[in-house]
Amino acid sequence: MEVLITGGMGYIGSHTCVEMIEAGMTPIIIDNLCNAKAEVLNRIEQITGVKPLFLQGDIRDEAFLDSLFAAHDIHSVIHFAGLKAVGESVAKPLEYYDNNVNGSLVLARAMRKAGVKRLVFSSSATVYGDPQQVPITESSPVGETTNPYGTSKFMVEQCLTDLVHAEPDWSVTLLRYFNPVGAHPSGLMGEDPQGIPNNLMPFIAQVAVGRREKLAVFGDDYSTKDGTGVRDYIHVMDLASGHIAALKGVGEKAGLHVFNLGTGQGSSVLEMVQAFSQACGKPVAYEICPRRPGDIAECWASTEKAERELGWKATRSVAEMAADTWRWQSNNPQGY
Ligand code: NAD
Ligand code: UD1
Repeated sequence: MEVLITGGMGYIGSHTCVEMIEAGMTPIIIDNLCNAKAEVLNRIEQITGVKPLFLQGDIRDEAFLDSLFAAHDIHSVIHFAGLKAVGESVAKPLEYYDNNVNGSLVLARAMRKAGVKRLVFSSSATVYGDPQQVPITESSPVGETTNPYGTSKFMVEQCLTDLVHAEPDWSVTLLRYFNPVGAHPSGLMGEDPQGIPNNLMPFIAQVAVGRREKLAVFGDDYSTKDGTGVRDYIHVMDLASGHIAALKGVGEKAGLHVFNLGTGQGSSVLEMVQAFSQACGKPVAYEICPRRPGDIAECWASTEKAERELGWKATRSVAEMAADTWRWQSNNPQGY
């Protein structure tokens, strides 16, 4: 079964490709490499023994997509490609809406022309904004986003929802990821952020490996268990298997399907620091700093719907997330 993976050279896409190959599927990757390295392909091959077909190109290039769909018998598409840095999206909204929203529209148009109407979209818990209650269920309100990145995810969700209403033979699955962390247990693949990491786990990992002096903990005065922000961290391999479960469970069923992919457990910043210190066998230096503007106090997923309808549940612990991140980071201190 050939499945087109847009953004398949990136962090989540590459781990999903490994899981797909191991599940007997054939991923075909397209990626413009704006945030990924070509070396990823060799690592996928090292792990699985299979080098997937990779075509370098942009999802906004409709002629490129048309020729790809003409040349391959694509069963479905998992759409990871996009820009994802919140701060950068505030500075460059046009670039973010063009890449994320326009890119998704070009892709959907090319799919329709080719008669490929099964799409899984990488959305984010960011569409829930500051949640009124936790755990967050899929029917919680969406759209109160606070930055162009989050708004772009919400807009794509809306476009795809309208598409399914208008053309009910489409199968569209919106997967709302909580906080993906961790790495492949081999230590061969992991997250490789360019520049200063925006997210907690890669920052901690770079402190542990000596690339950065200390972590700034953004606020310890939230009304959470220890005053620091609480999130639902999910191991990237669990997230990857969630995509396989979605493809198998609803990927051929017409209509709109929406699932949270999280663990249902919240961990604080200091708990993550502690887990990482245990994994790497040394303390991770940190300093309490002011809150980061736009941050929420806490958020975690209700996982009931995915469990019930997809038979999928995350199984890996925070200790495994930290251990696998450390194996990746210490084996590849400068990334790929
Ligand atoms: P990533 O940056 O590692 O991967 C995205 C990939 O898409 C990169 O390899 C990049 O080169 C490619 N790409 C970007 N624009 C493209 C374009 N126009 N044409 C072709 N390729 C393009 O990011 P990731 O962490 O793997 O995230 C994958 C998806 O999941 C994104 O859509 C992201 O918004 C979403 N998501 C990520 C997180 C997270 O914390 N990592 C959380 C929620 C949702
Ligand atoms: C961020 C994005 C969100 C995106 C998600 C993807 C913001 C406001 N939100 O969410 O849109 O979908 O990443 O994973 O950027 N922290 C520190 N020090 C750091 C980094 C983070 O203390 O150097 C804290 C944060 O305050 C937060 C927690 O760690 O409490 C997690 O932060 P982060 O990894 O950036 O994820 P989110 O804020 O959940």
